[in-house]
Amino acid sequence: RMENGGGRGALIVLEGLDRSGKTSQCARLLSFLQGKGCLAEAWRFPDRETSVGKMISAYLANESQLDDRTIHLLFSANRWEKRNLMESKLLGGTTLVVDRYSYSGLAFSAAKGLEIEWCKAPEVGLLAPDLVIYLDVQPEKAAERGGYGGERYERVEFQKRVAEHYHSLRDSTWKVVDGSLPMETVQEQLRELAMNCISECQGKQLTNLTW
Ligand code: TMP
Repeated sequence: RMENGGGRGALIVLEGLDRSGKTSQCARLLSFLQGKGCLAEAWRFPDRETSVGKMISAYLANESQLDDRTIHLLFSANRWEKRNLMESKLLGGTTLVVDRYSYSGLAFSAAKGLEIEWCKAPEVGLLAPDLVIYLDVQPEKAAERGGYGGERYERVEFQKRVAEHYHSLRDSTWKVVDGSLPMETVQEQLRELAMNCISECQGKQLTNLTW
């Protein structure tokens, strides 16, 4: 069993374009961590289970129309409604492997033309990740991977703009992993990054996003 000495869990976020492989990698990483005896849970945003999440889901499926600022604030609200639970899990020693977070919120909304500063404002005060792993794949390559599912943002031109915004958001918590490498190789890199992060975060306080 991997001991964390009663310390807190790590907040580990995976980011990347649609079809970059985040979701499968998150699932594999979670089983790896649990196999090591580590307390860990997989989370994702949007969390489509809440009532805000259902509005987001309908919007993404093109079943409802919302103006760009409104949907931006709903995505943010969807993170806020989970903030307290997130904090108590982390302080209770559970590591969270999160599929998308604030960086998706910023990169996707900015790709529509919203001002980045406006986009950042509602994210201030959410918990800051200990580690952000960006799965880097070319937008064209991502599109080839079994095609897009037909949700609102799944178009190559749009994903290219999202990628540009992601690049400008990189900060000291980011690690870029080449998502075009074989699945196993990517997973090995993720495992190492996650294990290091979990042991290193022990001495560090949880902080908030300040942007
Ligand atoms: P998903 O496919 O990971 O469930 O995400 C759904 C879409 O929502 C995806 O195209 C990324 C986008 N998105 C935002 O635009 N803003 C956000 O804050 C989040 C979390 C996702």
